[in-house]
Amino acid sequence: MKRQPRSSPCSDKSLRTVSIIGTGSYVPEKVLTNADLSRMVDTSDDWIITRTGIKERRIAAKDENTSDMATRAALKAIEQAKISAKEIDLILVATATPDMLFPATACFVQKKIGATNAACLDISAACAGFLFGLEIAQQFVTSHTYDTVLVIGADKLTSITNWTDRNTCVLFGDGAGAAILRHRGSAHGVISTHIGSDGAYTDILFMPGGGSRCPITRENADKHLATIHMTGKEVYKQAVIAMLNAAKIVLDKAGLSIEDIACVIPHQANLRIIEAIADRLGISRDKVFVNLDRYGNTSAAAVAIALDEANRSGRIKPGDYVLLIVFGGGLTWASTIIEW
Ligand code: ACO
Repeated sequence: MKRQPRSSPCSDKSLRTVSIIGTGSYVPEKVLTNADLSRMVDTSDDWIITRTGIKERRIAAKDENTSDMATRAALKAIEQAKISAKEIDLILVATATPDMLFPATACFVQKKIGATNAACLDISAACAGFLFGLEIAQQFVTSHTYDTVLVIGADKLTSITNWTDRNTCVLFGDGAGAAILRHRGSAHGVISTHIGSDGAYTDILFMPGGGSRCPITRENADKHLATIHMTGKEVYKQAVIAMLNAAKIVLDKAGLSIEDIACVIPHQANLRIIEAIADRLGISRDKVFVNLDRYGNTSAAAVAIALDEANRSGRIKPGDYVLLIVFGGGLTWASTIIEW
């Protein structure tokens, strides 16, 4: 007898739209100011503000793990979405600082929020991870594979910061942001997405130690191998190029022009990068959401926290076209346009 192929998730259903039905975020209580940093390394408030725009950042407590921050953000998103954690089919956690190399941080989150019906996995795309997560979530929902997906960007970058390196330690902070994705009737939601990577640049932003290539041993423990290594100038240059291209690609795919965009939410790494992109895209700076002055670069969490703050503060309103653009180690980049 001839074998009948199993039907694919899309075979009898048309692709459906995906909306963000809830957002949440969390940052730790402890504030580390530029003045505090100037007592730790040879730097100054003036240098940090002029070169980066950062005034202060949040530092997680020693016993506060990435999954703890992710959980607090997720619970707020769940509350806003008015769903039960049991309705979540998939949990994606984008992070470069997982609680452990395995199991996935998403599994720890699952246990903490009681999402007993979810499949769980982590995404490694550095600062770009949250939008990689949105793209993956979108694919599962549009194809009817899953109904409800929780995407989290969470990082405890201060756990991999070299506090003696002034080139990097002034840049980073900790936090988490989350979003719940679901099909919502006739609403448009995510209308255009793009993700990309370039492995030719793995050596400009990376953490050499702690993985299988260079496990941390007693001999090399003091060499700061399990901390962020970055060639700042090159990262800066590549970030501007990649984020600009990514923005143009999603605008083109959506058939929109920059004038249609009500709010740009970029990766929060450096105010100069953000302003360079705004100017080159031709959008006024007051349409660009910025919170890095308060949090620094929280990696995968940054755009997710910013999205939640823009949502809760009314900065983005139903019907607005919102452009998200991110960039991170890998190199990785991504962009998304959402009709809010
Ligand atoms: N305080 C005082 N001086 C400093 C500090 C500091 N914290 N850090 C560096 N300097 C010094 C340097 O030593 C250098 O001194 P020198 O000229 O005597 O050698 C001088 O300042 C200029 O340094 P530059 O590296 O040229 O400074 P630049 O203007 O490029 O700014 C920065 C550095 C802020 C790191 C910038 O290059 C940048 O933002 N790059 C992108 C970083 C980024 O976005 N990273 C995150 C990507 S996302 C992710 O995946 C984590």
